Amino acid sequence: MCGIIGYIGGGNAAREVYQGLKRLEYRGYDSAGGAFLNGDELVVVKKQGRVEKLLPFIDGLRATAGIGHTRWATHGAPSDGNAHPHTVGDISVVHNGIIENYAELKSELVADGAVFVSDTDSEVIAHLLNKFYDGDLAYAMKKTVDMLEGSYAILAVRRGVQRIYAACNKSPLIIGYGDGENFCASDEPALAGKCDGISVLDDGDFAEISAEGVIIYDGDMQAVIREISPNLAVCENLGLGDCPHYMLKEIREVPLSVTQTVKAFAGAEQKLKAAFAGVDRIILTGCGTAYHAALLGKRYFEIFAKIPAETEIASEFRYKNPVIGKNTAVIAVSQSGETADTVEAARLARGLGARVIAVTNSRRSQLNRVADAVVPVAAGVEICVAATKSYTGQVAALLACAFAVAGYSYAEKAGVFGNIAELCGKVIENIDASSLAHLCSRSRGVYFLGRDLDYAVALEGSLKLKEISYVPGEGYPAGELKHGTLALIDENTVSVFLITDERLAGKCANAVEQVVSRGGRAAVITNVNGVPEKLPECVEHIILLPECEPYLAPFLTAVAVQTLAYRTAVILNRDPDKPRNLAKSVTVE
Ligand code: F6R
Repeated sequence: MCGIIGYIGGGNAAREVYQGLKRLEYRGYDSAGGAFLNGDELVVVKKQGRVEKLLPFIDGLRATAGIGHTRWATHGAPSDGNAHPHTVGDISVVHNGIIENYAELKSELVADGAVFVSDTDSEVIAHLLNKFYDGDLAYAMKKTVDMLEGSYAILAVRRGVQRIYAACNKSPLIIGYGDGENFCASDEPALAGKCDGISVLDDGDFAEISAEGVIIYDGDMQAVIREISPNLAVCENLGLGDCPHYMLKEIREVPLSVTQTVKAFAGAEQKLKAAFAGVDRIILTGCGTAYHAALLGKRYFEIFAKIPAETEIASEFRYKNPVIGKNTAVIAVSQSGETADTVEAARLARGLGARVIAVTNSRRSQLNRVADAVVPVAAGVEICVAATKSYTGQVAALLACAFAVAGYSYAEKAGVFGNIAELCGKVIENIDASSLAHLCSRSRGVYFLGRDLDYAVALEGSLKLKEISYVPGEGYPAGELKHGTLALIDENTVSVFLITDERLAGKCANAVEQVVSRGGRAAVITNVNGVPEKLPECVEHIILLPECEPYLAPFLTAVAVQTLAYRTAVILNRDPDKPRNLAKSVTVE
């Protein structure tokens, strides 16, 4: 994973790299660093912790070029020493990806006398570049990447050489073209407001970047032209407004995410319908929260389009030799469009002849490039690592797809989405999850339970709570409780039941009884009339949501469980926006 940025030109390179790293921090934030061409010197600064830690050390530099890195540790603990850049001799390197054969390479280099100072896989790149350098860093880069197995986006600089050298394979790298200055970065948002044109490098490409221009080479070192397209990343107002955290701000943006997504869907509808012509089976795939959105999408396709649908966790799907025919549609759901497991699953499906549809919040991503059709999620930039508004945007996009494939026109169903947005707004305004959050914060385990669509949201509620509060727990189908999980229940656990389908309400109420009669603490989130009266008196917390059709309820329960997770994290003094050990965009497998 990790984010990398490079700048060369007449501006203040240290400031440009720092600002780029701030915009890339969502890709990892356990350490950060930069290497700067500062007159005749190569200045390298690297620190464990957030990007801000670099500022005092680079503020006074007058560098004309620099490369930077914000890290999500894969090999080697977060520490100053394992932070990038890695420097050997006069060459400094930043790397995003994983070098799978680093152990063999390291042994060979050590046998040749190389001394390693970090536990990272990336350090081998710096050693190889130093070994192969004979006055031409482009040549050394080619020789180096010929030795590498795995995924990489690499930037390198050398003291005294006014150039940045880049190479990539299966990790994204884009070039940004400015006026008397040029950039390279892991993704487009890092270059928001910085340049008008960008090129996306292909796997196997190299680039030699100077202030005056950029030369791109393919894997055979033949100069090639990569299309320059407009830089779509805009400097959105990414302030917190009156919210203490981005997570709260982004939960409040859920209604907008739904309405914007459905508006954007109008432009994608025809292409989607064409991609679905003749489809008789659907596989929905994604990771984490995106997978949970896929679970709801599966049910929407079954309910409305009456097409058999399955879900597969993207990281599992790839290794299952999936049976796919030409009438199978594979819907890959991903906020970032860069999740390696999801992108590779989509690539595999495409290779096997499936129609691939991307549902993504990114206008330009690897996933978009693999897909036959793209259904946009228009949630806007999501800063908090925990997905909130992008999840409801994904669910809205999948519902819109199911309606379209079922033959409903956009106009026929526009009102449904307006209704969802309005009801979500009411939940956001009225929900009080504080006392339940206090209970969760003191508990040993929190179990989220529900049936059918409520079960899908229960999984998401559980993930959200674990991810930002670190309170353990699980999401379970409410009916499965008695088949094992009940053994975990005692007075130190909380079971949160989601009950939004009248047909299943009685059975769920039985499960609540089973919990409380074993001394467990129980809470219920419901919008079904009559449910509160059916519950045992000792159910301490009942959160009431507005009534709606059961298929719309996931939007409302999603906001409720997101808010519960947020409140619990705040009580426990966790940073909900940057949970430990995580990163927003997971570009390694
Ligand atoms: C959880 C969360 C993750 C992501 C997952 C996939 O809050 O955000 O579980 O959903 O890493 O990311 P995308 O959607 O970018 O593919």
